Amino acid sequence: MSTPVTKKRVAILISGRGSNMVSLIEAGRAPDYPAEIVLVLSNRPDAAGLDRAREAGIPARAIDHKAFPDRARFDAALQAELDGAGIELIVLAGFMRILTDAFVEAWAGRMINIHPSLLPLFKGTHTHERALEAGVRLHGCTVHYVVPELDAGPIVAQAAVPVLPGDDADTLSARVIVQEHRLYPAALALIAGGGAALDGGRVRFSAQERDTGAAILSL
Ligand code: GRF
Repeated sequence: MSTPVTKKRVAILISGRGSNMVSLIEAGRAPDYPAEIVLVLSNRPDAAGLDRAREAGIPARAIDHKAFPDRARFDAALQAELDGAGIELIVLAGFMRILTDAFVEAWAGRMINIHPSLLPLFKGTHTHERALEAGVRLHGCTVHYVVPELDAGPIVAQAAVPVLPGDDADTLSARVIVQEHRLYPAALALIAGGGAALDGGRVRFSAQERDTGAAILSL
């Protein structure tokens, strides 16, 4: 009999529809996947992803940021939920709220985000429109560790897609999101399974990952 993997306890933070969240919940169900989604939190009570998480049997709670006088107290409420559930890794998936530097630093090396561009290009919002405007022929998505500066953390994994003649922001984002749903579970597995770790501001990959180049997903 093979030894069961020890799964890291993961919380996903969302603000919206939660399609990346769903792909991570599904990945986490595989017996040999090194992480398990045990909690979903949203800063928006109306986030559609909350119901999708509950339908999947995952505890999901809204912590409405509007109910708190400042970011520090909102972050303290998040922290209390995370502590209560024994969370080891935080995955941001369409979480549209800026976290305090203190919270980010407390979770350094244990919190990741997915961004819909090939970073360091197109940090911030409206990435698909800006990729089209810039005329790039390759676009994609990036999983990175979260640092206080927005979308600037060390890169764990990226997936690229072509920008095709005739694309608009909708067709391009539809092509990118397919890759997001592959990339995020792969990147979380890499981190939760010890294949990648944050080390002095850089991502250090295990010898096996360096050999296989598993952090790169192609077209
Ligand atoms: C994704 O495009 C992700 O890259 C960005 O926000 C979007 C979230 O989509 N950070 P969903 O809620 O996972 O469907």
